[in-house]
Amino acid sequence: MCSSCRHPLALLCVLLLASAGAFKVTAPQGQVLAVYGRPAVLGCSYTTSETSVLDSLIVTWQRASDNAVVHSFYHGKDQLDKQSAEYSGRTQLFSNEFLKGNVSLRLDKVQKKDEGTYLCTVSSVEGTDKAEVRVNFGAFYTEPLLTIQRHNTSVTFRYDSKGYPAPEVQWVDFTGQNLSHTDVVKADTDGELFLLHTHLVLEAQPKMNYTFTLKNRLLGQVIKRPVVFSDAMGYCTDNSSHWINIVLICFVLLSLACNIILLCIMRKKRILMKHPENGSI
Ligand SMILES: *[C@@H]1O[C@H](CO)[C@@H](O)[C@H](O)[C@H]1NC(C)=O
Ligand SMILES: *[C@@H]1O[C@H](CO)[C@@H](O)[C@H](O)[C@H]1NC(C)=O
Ligand SMILES: *[C@@H]1O[C@H](CO)[C@@H](O)[C@H](O)[C@H]1NC(C)=O
Ligand SMILES: *[C@@H]1O[C@H](CO)[C@@H](O)[C@H](O)[C@H]1NC(C)=O
Repeated sequence: MCSSCRHPLALLCVLLLASAGAFKVTAPQGQVLAVYGRPAVLGCSYTTSETSVLDSLIVTWQRASDNAVVHSFYHGKDQLDKQSAEYSGRTQLFSNEFLKGNVSLRLDKVQKKDEGTYLCTVSSVEGTDKAEVRVNFGAFYTEPLLTIQRHNTSVTFRYDSKGYPAPEVQWVDFTGQNLSHTDVVKADTDGELFLLHTHLVLEAQPKMNYTFTLKNRLLGQVIKRPVVFSDAMGYCTDNSSHWINIVLICFVLLSLACNIILLCIMRKKRILMKHPENGSI
């Protein structure tokens, strides 16, 4: 633990360690749920005493997997020249809380790659100790986008959404019966979140009424959406395109008439300009 104990000052070192037996660093929660795009506070504290002074305090936050420096503080201020670029501009310590024993780290704009274990190391005149904080990552699923496709004899209902981790998906009919559906869950282009495509293919019926439910258990998120489709809607779109044609024809005829009128006016004007005496007739 103290490699300098082999030093001639070993005895002093041992004595110091003995008196510092009470010095402890702890992570009160042990783990934190960090949400995509939001800030997360990684809790860490140490045992303070009257002899604690800010100038001799060293606080280091590191990523456990590779010891990358997330944030460090010594000589009474933040020291960021060894900070890993991945955390640049996203970290903050609460230095006004230091003498109360609070050396928690605030991490902003949480990303998927922030998931993992972090080490909080504190050294003071009373000793050195460290604690581990586990960061779990989650992302709330976005408002699901519904697409309905009417085929000759069937209807496809599709929902698309994005979040993390993989969701639980359920489609039920109006009696509460589960319906079999196809889900595709894959990483998005950044490799951060999961894209969900879920679809339900059913035989077309005059009236279709279902409920779609998406759950992100980690974040306690539940999205429930009723889906109602009446066959009349399918024909309705056909009718509307018919109406669009009629409107279009009317528009073409109208603009043609306008052009003819405009031409007539211009011709009359030209005659007037050539023979101004005719104008008084
Ligand atoms: C440390 O202080 C911050 C900011 O006031 C607070 O959010 C956090 O809960 C505190 N943590 C502990 C362990 O006291
Ligand atoms: C849909 O129905 C029309 C006529 O009712 C038929 O011509 C067409 O081939 C059908 N399409 C499919 C994909 O079954
Ligand atoms: C669909 O079914 C649910 C559950 O039975 C019912 O509460 C709702 O009124 C129905 N909606 C329509 C438009 O039929
Ligand atoms: C429907 O499926 C879900 C899981 O997808 C399950 O929890 C539930 O018990 C099932 N309900 C019925 C009525 O089978």
